[in-house]
Amino acid sequence: MIPLLEVKKLTKHFTMQKGVLKAVEDVSFKIFPGKTLGLVGESGSGKSTIGQMLVRLTKPTSGQILYNGKDILTLSKKESKDFLRKLQIIFQDPYSSLNPRMDVEKILLEPLQIHNICPREKRNEKIEELLQLVGLDSSFFRRYPHQLSGGQRQRVAIARALAVSPECIVCDEPTSSLDVSIQAQIVHLLKELQEKLHLSYLFISHNLPVIDYLSEQIAVMYLGHIVEIGPREKIYNSHFHPYTKVLLSSVFTPDPKANKEKPKLSLFGENPSPMHPPKGCVYSTRCSHASEICHSVRPELKELSPGHFVSCHFFNDSNAPR
Ligand SMILES: Nc1ncnc2c1ncn2[C@@H]1O[C@H](COP(=O)(O)OP(=O)(O)OP(=O)(O)O)[C@@H](O)[C@H]1O
Ligand SMILES: [Mg+2]
Repeated sequence: MIPLLEVKKLTKHFTMQKGVLKAVEDVSFKIFPGKTLGLVGESGSGKSTIGQMLVRLTKPTSGQILYNGKDILTLSKKESKDFLRKLQIIFQDPYSSLNPRMDVEKILLEPLQIHNICPREKRNEKIEELLQLVGLDSSFFRRYPHQLSGGQRQRVAIARALAVSPECIVCDEPTSSLDVSIQAQIVHLLKELQEKLHLSYLFISHNLPVIDYLSEQIAVMYLGHIVEIGPREKIYNSHFHPYTKVLLSSVFTPDPKANKEKPKLSLFGENPSPMHPPKGCVYSTRCSHASEICHSVRPELKELSPGHFVSCHFFNDSNAPR
């Protein structure tokens, strides 16, 4: 399958007063049409920065972002506008991403006007259609963001993203500010919309069961690096990287017996600063398997099985930290 979006060696360094902050380093992945890549990793590992580079809110320091094989950083003005329409973003907190001075009708009208979508006289119909897609109706036309519940606000934010008929949506923790019961509704809505509209998602979340439910591919990030990436079932059932192991050990399964038997692992030591990442493997200062080489040489991402890549020196080793 040809990827809709391919990221190659994407890097973002922020220049700060006290030095350079390495937020994202040499990250590569592919997103396929109609599929989801789930992005997980602890706070500050660079997930949102990747999402923001994709939608061009942040300029990469180096690397490539290919959309349908074309580098988006070299697009003409017209191509660029077209591209920005095809790739949308939904944020964690819809309250701050929706203009509080606009009612729902205006919020949804704005992208239709900017991108000149559908004739003027059909716009009301289109707005009603968008609201229906996200489980709302025309009674919401005159409501302002503060007159909506958290779940309804996120539905409006999703409708706004859909207004321009995107092909891919970056979902940056779209459910983490919501009540647990509402989270499930929004996740199901996103899944339903994906099937109906053949959307691709880059889905960023700390919620591993949600990532599991939505993603065909999962990438695990640590301190700006992808340390493991692969098909969902490989990441869940035969993950390799010691960090992935820690991350997944915290997931509860519906079987209480299995939960009891499963050892819970936790990270030890301080989280290193992205201003001064460890010299060798970025995870070496917190890895119980680290040996000399891990502290001096950065491991490459190597293919463990088709499509499953891991960045660990113990790859190919019979003493591997499984
Ligand atoms: N505009 C910026 N200027 C300077 N540093 C930044 C900027 N944006 C992000 N960073 C830094 O880059 C690193 C990665 O941040 P990012 O927001 O991408 O992490 P994240 O994985 O999304 O975290 P979280 O799970 O908490 O949302 C962090 O150390 C952050 O402080
Ligand atoms: Mg983030």
